[in-house]
Amino acid sequence: MRMILLGPPGAGKGTQAKKLVEKYGIPQISTGDILREAVKNKTSLGQEAKSYMDKGALVPDSIVVGIIRERLHDSDCAKGYILDGFPRTVPQADELKKALKAMGQSIDFVLSIVVPNEDLIKRLTGRRTCKECGAGFHLLYKKPAKDGVCDQCSGPLFQRDDDKEDTIKNRLTVYNKQTEPLTQYYRKDGALVEIQGTGGIQDIFGRICAVVEKQG
Ligand code: AP5
Repeated sequence: MRMILLGPPGAGKGTQAKKLVEKYGIPQISTGDILREAVKNKTSLGQEAKSYMDKGALVPDSIVVGIIRERLHDSDCAKGYILDGFPRTVPQADELKKALKAMGQSIDFVLSIVVPNEDLIKRLTGRRTCKECGAGFHLLYKKPAKDGVCDQCSGPLFQRDDDKEDTIKNRLTVYNKQTEPLTQYYRKDGALVEIQGTGGIQDIFGRICAVVEKQG
């Protein structure tokens, strides 16, 4: 199964992708996670990406397309994958199509998670992530048992640099301008499936699994 998770910042793409990985045993490919790892390791890619990410802008297409082209050839992608946060522009979607065609593949479906803006801001300002294992938490909706400490590995929790309110607003503007047109792009292809991303995490996962069982 090869699927794309599409949706604005805070829609729950990462949260749901992790649950899909557990249930279906295929990898999550998150360009955001790959870029954050490069920033953490201070690689040349990370240094270039950081200036864009800190502003809430998109990293140039050529960089992310290069990352994805390489990643799709890894052996763990043989049975499928979940693309989380890629593509994010029409040129990225065109390049993905080309790369997949060259590999004799195509995307099975694109799941668009729909969430109102006011919920997105609440979700993003309260998000906390474990520095050690990457587990996700929320100050209101998914509280850790002990403040600032990961339930899974006891690692410290941190707030992403781009989860400050001003940067969040810019990320939402960028999403509406550059990424939202992809819903029309994939609708035209007959690949788009929309689901409501409001309500409990488990309820939304149930909606997603129903789509996977039908399409996958
Ligand atoms: P990226 O990391 O992809 O960020 P994003 O798309 O902005 O998405 P988020 O990770 O913020 O949100 P999410 O939908 O995964 O939500 P989550 O599940 O965590 O990208 C970061 C940056 O990298 C970009 O700005 C750009 O600079 C660069 N980049 C990445 N990919 C790129 C590309 N292809 N091209 C160019 N640049 C690129 O949930 C959020 C919070 O809400 C969590 O705390 C969670 O616990 C909580 N939550 C989740 N679901 C629910 C629910 N149902 N109810 C209540 N709370 C919930």
